[in-house]
Amino acid sequence: MKLLHVDASAKREWSNSRALSRHFIDLLRQQVPALDVDYLDVAADANPPAHVSEAFTVATYTPAAQRTPAMKQTLEASDALCKRVLEADAFVFAMPMYNFSMPSVFKAFIDNIVRTDLTYKVGADGSYQGQLAPEKVLFLTTRGADLRPGSPMAGMDALTPALRAAFAFLGVPSPTFVDAQPLTFSAVQEREAALVRAKAELAALAQRWAA
Ligand SMILES: Cc1cc2nc3c(=O)[nH]c(=O)nc-3n(C[C@H](O)[C@H](O)[C@H](O)COP(=O)(O)O)c2cc1C
Repeated sequence: MKLLHVDASAKREWSNSRALSRHFIDLLRQQVPALDVDYLDVAADANPPAHVSEAFTVATYTPAAQRTPAMKQTLEASDALCKRVLEADAFVFAMPMYNFSMPSVFKAFIDNIVRTDLTYKVGADGSYQGQLAPEKVLFLTTRGADLRPGSPMAGMDALTPALRAAFAFLGVPSPTFVDAQPLTFSAVQEREAALVRAKAELAALAQRWAA
């Protein structure tokens, strides 16, 4: 199994999403010793995925055969990210919720990996064909509040639908979500219970992926 592990929290050693994603990879590695992990920290200070620039918008929609050397250079980092994504057959994307959606660095990552003729193709009938087809895709999100279905804040969860839409477009129809919540704005017992729930879900998922 070739797994792309992406962390996106601005926090380092105190990050819940980083700790939980490490925990999941450790569980999986116990059961799949040959696990091949490609690690990407999109929140790292050095070399984060670039935001969309004007040059990028022009280069990405210019057919590959017509791109100038400057356009090719503009797309180099994005090409490299697409290659890593296309080489993986399993994904762990770990991130906190920031202001009801994803960290902007993870959005920049998505903007770099949604590429015509690389990660999606357009059929002769105009239909879109995502080029990622892994069965094993985990979104591990951490939230300070409780946005679970039925909670008063459930309707404010703009993170889950945004991730679902972008990755469905790339060919991932049914990813797994493990959402650890509430981790900040609640009593300590509720926070601990949220971590216990998330770890139980991760343990069950590691078993399913290893089977
Ligand atoms: C800038 C910022 C914005 C946040 N926005 C939200 C939010 O909209 N909803 C929420 O439930 N938690 C929010 N939080 C809390 C984090 O999602 C929560 O603390 C999470 O556990 C952080 O994960 P991490 O430890 O991996 O960084 C926010 C935290 C920060 C720093």
